Amino acid sequence: MKSDSNKKNTIKPTPEQIKEASSKITGYFGGYFAIWTLDLGIRTGLFEEIANFLNGVTSSDLAKKKGFDPLYVDVWCRNAYGAELLEIQNGHYTLSPAMATLLLDRDNGAYATGTAQVLIGLRDAFAALRKRIKSGKRLWWNTAPREFVDAVAESSRAFYTRLLNFIDLRPELAQLLVRGTLVEVGSGYGTGLIRFAERFPKAKLVGVDGDSHSLKQAEFIFKQAKFDKQVRFVQSSFEDYNESEVADIALINISLHEARNKKKATAVMYNALKPGGVILVSEFPYPERPEGLRTPPARVMSGIQYFEAMINDQLLPTKEFINLLSGVGFKHIETVELTPVHTIILGHK
Ligand SMILES: C[S@@+](CC[C@H](N)C(=O)[O-])C[C@H]1O[C@@H](n2cnc3c(N)ncnc32)[C@H](O)[C@@H]1O
Repeated sequence: MKSDSNKKNTIKPTPEQIKEASSKITGYFGGYFAIWTLDLGIRTGLFEEIANFLNGVTSSDLAKKKGFDPLYVDVWCRNAYGAELLEIQNGHYTLSPAMATLLLDRDNGAYATGTAQVLIGLRDAFAALRKRIKSGKRLWWNTAPREFVDAVAESSRAFYTRLLNFIDLRPELAQLLVRGTLVEVGSGYGTGLIRFAERFPKAKLVGVDGDSHSLKQAEFIFKQAKFDKQVRFVQSSFEDYNESEVADIALINISLHEARNKKKATAVMYNALKPGGVILVSEFPYPERPEGLRTPPARVMSGIQYFEAMINDQLLPTKEFINLLSGVGFKHIETVELTPVHTIILGHK
């Protein structure tokens, strides 16, 4: 006998239900164009140019100033205004101070441009999913689209800013770094480590990463900033990094969920810490239950899960990180939610 679950649903939706569903989808269509508008405005310097005009600028003057095509610029301005990225006064477009912070201030904890670039950087990966969803083919950082990897480094700037602000609010942590050592596991392009170098010029820094391209990029930015004497880089998987009692703080930013063996990676950081040292796990707090997925921040984290699946992992609920830390011997574990997409899990050796 066929079960009821195989029967086609013949219940007709009401016109109100159709209207409600339609308005949700239309909102997503608009969001898609808003993200492309944001990316275009950043990459072409349009937002930066508008920020120079206190009383605003017309789209034709903006096009003239930039040497761009007036029709394209006008379409862009109207999109940016519609998406509430720009304001308008008597036909003159302006950038509000709050939007200028989110879009242009790369050292602000609310900086949002990097995340928009991450979404755009995934366009080819999304197209490839049409085949990968069947084949199950995965990739890793060294074969991920380069524009996407660059965008991840840009998006994590805000995470590091919030982390540094958090450390400044905890003098006992800041004190550990005045002359101490920070090991960052999964240091990527070094965008976080360089901020630590600026903030703690006498600290010693160690960056550990498995991706040679990211390490080269990190070495390059440290040389350029003339901070290279303060840092050393180690190419290693998280699980095989093997230094004992070298660090006062072990940091891992939006990367522990990627470890192939999370327990081993956590134990590696425990081993790298001196007695009394502190681990800072900076992570996305993925909702524990499906009900938690229906908020805008959770939707962003769910979207990121597509890329995580491509590299064969998933973002995890905070509870899992607490268990990992206690499982390898960390004590006095605390969690601090910095934003709806950013939580710190802290433990002591
Ligand atoms: C999401 S990125 C974050 C990079 C950096 N922390 C940031 O926030 O910009 C993750 C980084 O961890 C590295 N990574 C991921 N899994 C790894 C593993 N099992 N062993 C070594 N490195 C790994 C990747 O190469 C990449 O640089």
